[in-house]
Amino acid sequence: MQVLIAYESRGGRTRRSAEALADAIRERGSEAMVKTLKDTTAEDVERNDAIAVGSWVEGLIFFKVGPAKAALEGVGRLPALGGKPAAVFCTYGFNPRDTLAKLRQSLETKGAKVVGENASHRAHPDRGAGELAERICASQEAS
Ligand SMILES: Cc1cc2nc3c(=O)[nH]c(=O)nc-3n(C[C@H](O)[C@H](O)[C@H](O)COP(=O)(O)O)c2cc1C
Repeated sequence: MQVLIAYESRGGRTRRSAEALADAIRERGSEAMVKTLKDTTAEDVERNDAIAVGSWVEGLIFFKVGPAKAALEGVGRLPALGGKPAAVFCTYGFNPRDTLAKLRQSLETKGAKVVGENASHRAHPDRGAGELAERICASQEAS
């Protein structure tokens, strides 16, 4: 299985999350390719069997909390995902609130089938990567 991991990161923590997910996927015998959402092309999406999208949490702590605007714009530029297995992840500083639900919805709007999600605190950006990799890899075995 080949998995595209596309992320939006400002300070590098979500990039670390993306890299930890890639390592965990490779440990399970699949291939992973890590790119910024900004640099992700339609060809990258077509070439991979599954896609994971990660963002940092952007908001005013209590209000307007969600995926970074740039991440939602990046998902908006992706081609149709036609039932492709997908996963969402984020890093946060205080509380991710419904960031994962919003990211999930943006991918479902593109036609993806979301099979897993993970939010990690910025102090531990690699936490939960193994479980998320497990879900992504299991989606291939199930199909
Ligand atoms: C402008 C700005 C707004 C943020 N708003 C929130 C927020 O509302 N809730 C929260 O939990 N974290 C918030 N954070 C913290 C980031 O989501 C967190 O530090 C994240 O790990 C940064 O990821 P990055 O290093 O990949 O850019 C905010 C950070 C910035 C820079």
